[in-house]
Amino acid sequence: MLPGGLSSTSMPSLMTRMLETLDIHDGHRVLEIGTGTGYNAALLSHRVGSDNVYSVDIEAALIELARERLARIGYHPTLVAADGAHGLPEHAPYDRIIATCSVPAIPWSWVQQTSEDGLILADVKIGKQAGNLVLLQKRGQQAEGRFDPTYGSFMGMRRDGDTYERARPASTSQGRDSAHERTTTLDLTRPWEHTSFWFFAHTGLPHGTSFSLRGDGPEQPPRNTVLHAPDGSWCEVREDSDNGTRQVWEFGPQSLWQIIEDTHAAWVHQGKPGWERFGLTATFDHQLIWLDTPDCRLTTLC
Ligand SMILES: C[S@@+](CC[C@H](N)C(=O)[O-])C[C@H]1O[C@@H](n2cnc3c(N)ncnc32)[C@H](O)[C@@H]1O
Repeated sequence: MLPGGLSSTSMPSLMTRMLETLDIHDGHRVLEIGTGTGYNAALLSHRVGSDNVYSVDIEAALIELARERLARIGYHPTLVAADGAHGLPEHAPYDRIIATCSVPAIPWSWVQQTSEDGLILADVKIGKQAGNLVLLQKRGQQAEGRFDPTYGSFMGMRRDGDTYERARPASTSQGRDSAHERTTTLDLTRPWEHTSFWFFAHTGLPHGTSFSLRGDGPEQPPRNTVLHAPDGSWCEVREDSDNGTRQVWEFGPQSLWQIIEDTHAAWVHQGKPGWERFGLTATFDHQLIWLDTPDCRLTTLC
């Protein structure tokens, strides 16, 4: 029996959109990372034939269940219990790789195992909820492409030994008394609800910044935004405003809300870019997030 939250099937509309984006043709060999229920493996088997479909999941129990389900409807793709971070080298190369769990960066093994001009579609999240589907084309020793104009999101890829990450409790270790208090006029109390801006903000926020909600007091509903960075910096922004002005508390070596304000100003200056303007280039030793063209670098991953 699997603990809750370790796997789920994806919205059929999202699956369909991803399969259309992947531009799959007859005879293509496809690797899926994240077998889950086997639903997507069934769609792939129907499209290109079971012999051309390979799917891996880190949960052996899911692989067995998916194998039984798929066999019952006449499909026999190659299903393997393995860590998808390594791809599936024994059957490479693949014309298409589709990941239905999110990754912090594209594993180099996926690029290596994709045939020349082949495509990789994955949800890259550079921070908590900061990411989207990106479609990369393999060319020589790199894979490059743009983020999907429409937002789509998956649960994070786990590694062997990981425990499922639970949300951080909405509290700060130091109280507001020890924090610097100021106001903000930025009308964006929950930046993560504006997906392309939240992604842009992560190119400036410390790596590993997370968010939560907290009430004004123990009895109050948790509505204020709290951002935490691994170095102990945090900020809290009151949800309610007084004539458009909100209270801000900041603590620690970095002014996290200042970073949000600065990156927001830069984002507005750039014309409030949507997802279609962001791109990613993956090479062996680095991955670049860029705006509009690869020479306009925003940040380097891994
Ligand atoms: C959203 S579900 C996939 C849904 C699936 N495609 C379907 O059609 O039902 C994400 C899956 O990714 C799997 N997963 C998480 N980390 C993984 C890893 N490192 N390698 C392979 N699979 C992983 C989870 O076990 C889970 O089944």
